[in-house]
Amino acid sequence: MIEIKNVSKTFPTSAGTFEALHDVSLTIGSSEIFGLIGESGAGKSTLVRCINLLERPTSGTVEVDGRDITNLRGRELRAFRSGIGMVFQSLSLFQQRTVLENVRFPATLGTSDVSRLSAAEQRKRASQLLEVVGLAEKAESYPNQLSGGQQQRVAIARALMTSPSILLCDEATSALDTLTTASVLKTLAHIREEMGITIVLITHSLYVARSICDRIAVMEAGRIVEQGTTKEVFEAPKAQITRALLGIESGEEVA
Ligand SMILES: Nc1ncnc2c1ncn2[C@@H]1O[C@H](COP(=O)(O)OP(=O)(O)OP(=O)(O)O)[C@@H](O)[C@H]1O
Ligand SMILES: [Mg+2]
Repeated sequence: MIEIKNVSKTFPTSAGTFEALHDVSLTIGSSEIFGLIGESGAGKSTLVRCINLLERPTSGTVEVDGRDITNLRGRELRAFRSGIGMVFQSLSLFQQRTVLENVRFPATLGTSDVSRLSAAEQRKRASQLLEVVGLAEKAESYPNQLSGGQQQRVAIARALMTSPSILLCDEATSALDTLTTASVLKTLAHIREEMGITIVLITHSLYVARSICDRIAVMEAGRIVEQGTTKEVFEAPKAQITRALLGIESGEEVA
C-alpha cells in the first residue's frame, strides 16, 4: 500500500519558487491499478516521482507498506528503489544492447536480490519476462528493430527485472496508436494478474484510464481535485476539470 500524506513540493525557480504539489494526500491499495490524469503541468510526474524519491517532498510523507520512505538515503534508498519499477515517458533503452540485455540490465546494478544471481540465471529471468510481455522471439533483436509498442513492452519487462512490488508508469502509452496501446495495456493487466503488483499509471488518454484502472485521481495545478473508482469518475464527474477532460460541457448531463 502507498500512502501519500499531505505532500507538497516546491521547486526553486529564477522567479522565486514554484509549488508543483500542494498538500496532496492519496492512498493506493496493493495490487491496484491506479490512474492519474490531468492537464499538462498539473503535477502528475512530480507526484509519481515522489513515490520513488526521484523527487523529495518539501513537506509531507510517503509511506510504502507502512514504512515512511521520505528520508531514506544511500544504501537504504537504493534497496528501496529496487523494489519499484519505473517506465518513463521517454524509453531510454540501450540501442547498442540486445533486447534481452536491456531487460537484464537492472540486475547488473547490484542493488537487489537478482544481482546475486549468476549471469546465466539473470538471462533466464530476463527471457521469462520477455515471455510475460509477449516478446520472447525478440530477445536477440536490438531496440531499433522493434515497433514503438514493442519497445514499450521491453521497458516494462526491464522494470520488472528486480521483482518490484510497485510499477510506476509515466505516459507509457502516449506515443502509441490505439491498437498498440491496447497491447501494452493488456500486458499491464496481465502483469497485475500474474504478479499481484501495484501499478500507478499516468496517462493523458481517458481510453487508457477507463480500460484498466480500478481507481483514478484527477490533478489540477498541483492538487487532487477528484478521485474515485473509474466508474464513478467517468459516470459522475464532479470537478470542472474532469468534465472538461471528458469533453462534457458544463450543465450537460452525463450519459
Ligand atoms: N525541476 C523543476 N523545477 C521547476 N519547476 C518544475 C520542475 N519540475 C516540474 N516543475 C513544474 O511543476 C509543474 C508540474 O510538472 P509535472 O512534470 O509534474 O507535470 P505533469 O502533470 O506531469 O505534466 P505533463 O502531463 O506535461 O507530463 C509544472 O509547472 C512544471 O513546470
Ligand atoms: Mg508528466
